[in-house]
Amino acid sequence: MSAAVKYHGHACFSMAAGGRRVIIDPFISENPGAVETLEEIEVDAVLVTHAHSDHLGDGIELAKRTGAVLIATYEIALYCQRAGVEDVYPMHIGGAVDLDFARVKLTVAHHSSSIVTDDEIHMLGAPCGFLVTMGERTFYHTGDTGLCADLELIGRLNEINAAAIPIGDTFTMGLEDGITAAKMIGASLNIPMHYNTFPVIAADPCEFVRRAEAEGLRAQVLEPGEETELP
Ligand code: NI
Ligand code: MN
Repeated sequence: MSAAVKYHGHACFSMAAGGRRVIIDPFISENPGAVETLEEIEVDAVLVTHAHSDHLGDGIELAKRTGAVLIATYEIALYCQRAGVEDVYPMHIGGAVDLDFARVKLTVAHHSSSIVTDDEIHMLGAPCGFLVTMGERTFYHTGDTGLCADLELIGRLNEINAAAIPIGDTFTMGLEDGITAAKMIGASLNIPMHYNTFPVIAADPCEFVRRAEAEGLRAQVLEPGEETELP
């Protein structure tokens, strides 16, 4: 079996195997890096790491149109259900679910999870990351997170074929901590994310690759729209 991961810009990735596709953090319509329109995207599951607009993004609309199951922490799943998503699967950190086309496990992420409306800030529980296994490959989307010791444990207990690691700083770990995270996780392939979408998260992904390779790690910059087979 095999599986591929596609980058949609910012923190949005999709993973495909056996003709099925899972998307994580579908921030498409407002994403300056997205190369596809929301209408072009077909998925079987929508995974949301946290409620911030650059992650929940178009998740509600996409799940409604495709009929995909929306998987998120309890509060986000209920929020999406109330917004009209029929198939939601509320979970929490540490929990895993076996769908017929993917296994999804929620991991800890050190961040927040809120929705900001005109006059209020709604906190929607804890943020998370995802371990997604399809086609006998495991992709670790760390979510928006700062560097934390949990990454080492997650790397030790799971054989991770590829990890998406934030490098943009300010809201997540920066490039330096991203390299430390890659060393802790020990994935076969490291893919930088969450950079250059906005001026405050400017970072050089090629510098991440150079630094990772200097540490003996494999890393690759994926351009938005680019898909790679997982090692
Ligand atoms: Ni965030
Ligand atoms: Mn973010």
